[in-house]
Amino acid sequence: MIPPTHLLSSFTNIYHHPPTLIAYAPGRVNLLGGHTDYNDGWVVPVAIDRYAWLAARPSTSDMVTIHALDLDETASFNIHQLDDKLDTQGRPLPKWVHYPAGVAWSLQRNDLKLTGFDAVLTSTVPVGAGLSSSAAVEVAFAVIWESMMGWQVDRMSLARLCQSAENLYVGVNSGLMDQFASLHGVLGNALFFDCRTLAWEAVPLPENIALVIADTNVRRSLGDSAYNERRAACEEAVRILSGHLPNITALRDVEVHDFETHQHLLPPIIQRRAEHVVRECARTLRGVEKLQAGDVSGFGTLMIEGNASLRDLYEVSCPELNALTEIAISLPGCYGSRLTGAGFGGCTVNLVEQAHAESFAQKLSTAYKKQVGKDATVWICQAAEGAGVRGMEGE
Ligand code: GLA
Repeated sequence: MIPPTHLLSSFTNIYHHPPTLIAYAPGRVNLLGGHTDYNDGWVVPVAIDRYAWLAARPSTSDMVTIHALDLDETASFNIHQLDDKLDTQGRPLPKWVHYPAGVAWSLQRNDLKLTGFDAVLTSTVPVGAGLSSSAAVEVAFAVIWESMMGWQVDRMSLARLCQSAENLYVGVNSGLMDQFASLHGVLGNALFFDCRTLAWEAVPLPENIALVIADTNVRRSLGDSAYNERRAACEEAVRILSGHLPNITALRDVEVHDFETHQHLLPPIIQRRAEHVVRECARTLRGVEKLQAGDVSGFGTLMIEGNASLRDLYEVSCPELNALTEIAISLPGCYGSRLTGAGFGGCTVNLVEQAHAESFAQKLSTAYKKQVGKDATVWICQAAEGAGVRGMEGE
């Protein structure tokens, strides 16, 4: 893993010392299990070779100063004064700083000691594109503090601490999938993760298959009420259904046939949201069996079905995402295509026969431009390892 060269040179230019540590944390795509994680369901994410990079040098103060290279902005906060979300000058922290400040808040709330440091942050995960740019930033800060302070927390607990930062400090009620994937990625593998039991296993991706990401270049904001509204609808469905299915505590517990029997009890919008989740949970379990058996075509068909459900029942797609998936599945060598992340814009992920991958990427961009009038960004990605920290020798 080679850090971007401008990360090191910028650090030295800004702080007049080289960094002592470099952390990297990958983004992810999600092949199956859309909006199932916060319903205690199953997901199949893949950590990708796009990273949040953080160079740091501990200081003796309580201040964390971060220069964000991609924004050309610097902000500082005091690790012991986080509740008001103000910087060291008493001004509101910029939104991007809520993620590292939230991690500081969450770690300390769990009795983990921190120190201040100087840092430079840059990321190759496009922001707000459904590739977990925010989880990657959270995880990079968590692992760099772990390394600086010498405490050790198992990776699943660290993922949950980062999720708490996002839920309780940033205010987005996201599930655990993104932080889990960023910390647990396995080279060349997808990850099959049970969001209730927290059990997981790596599932090898066939070697002749390429993962192609296509960015609509349309942006949404996760903080938008739409995501939290979806989660609230699922909770409401559980509340109503549990009057008739007493053993359920989450939509993951609802079998498809029980749902079909009781769905008339739900108001129409809640019914559609819950139907997506119940069927997507079943689809994810079926899909993993197919992937484990090397049936890429069967797995891809389930990705396409899952995408239709996200579009029609969960209503988190948009015309640009629909155009990208429709074009993709009409192209040679494409097994499956679906939106990834929360939706409302951002990226699709496509499973494509390796031999067709380059021409697939080209044809997809051309047809998208012609149909939508916008430029898509399309690239072939690799299934990557999870987050890590490297010491800079001699520092
Ligand atoms: C976002 C959230 C995840 C998950 C996905 C949808 O990426 O952060 O927890 O809910 O949306 O699958």
